[in-house]
Amino acid sequence: MSILKIARAGHPVLKTPAKKVENPLDPAVSSLVRDMIETMQDAPGIGLAAPQVHVDKRVVVFYVPQGRTGELGQDGREEEDGPRDLTVLINPVIEPLTDEKVEGIEGCLSLPELSGLVPRYTRIRYKAVGLDGEPINVTASGFHARVVQHECDHLDGVLYPQRMEDLSTLGYAGVSDRMKLYVDEDEGKE
Ligand code: NI
Repeated sequence: MSILKIARAGHPVLKTPAKKVENPLDPAVSSLVRDMIETMQDAPGIGLAAPQVHVDKRVVVFYVPQGRTGELGQDGREEEDGPRDLTVLINPVIEPLTDEKVEGIEGCLSLPELSGLVPRYTRIRYKAVGLDGEPINVTASGFHARVVQHECDHLDGVLYPQRMEDLSTLGYAGVSDRMKLYVDEDEGKE
């Protein structure tokens, strides 16, 4: 296992659509995933896409920690997913299940120290293949849906500022109270 170097915004690998994994059972894929998980945990982050470690493959790892849900507020809480264990997605595809989007604060390991308000679909379905080659077909809401949208954007060469509607909310964590709150969560970077 190794901790891999994380590409920063501006690097071509983060702007280029990643290639489909032809054989999810290839040992090179499980080796990549192990290194991605170690790199993500070391950072620390809650999600990582292969292009962020200079690999142009459609592979994502993420989890949803306790305390990072509740972004839909009181009204949406009942239908919002809770914490999720570490998940590996190979060749993921997202389908929005609603037109509704909600803004939430995001950070990214490829844009260190920055965060901003990003609108994301509140409910999605994602399909992928797992490390075992078995199909994954999941309906996600709230923060779970946000993380998956953020990570899958990396596979298409899109960084979260490109999704922002108000760039004035982009800033260094710790400068405003809201960003400070975010940083105190400690593990908010994707
Ligand atoms: Ni990211």
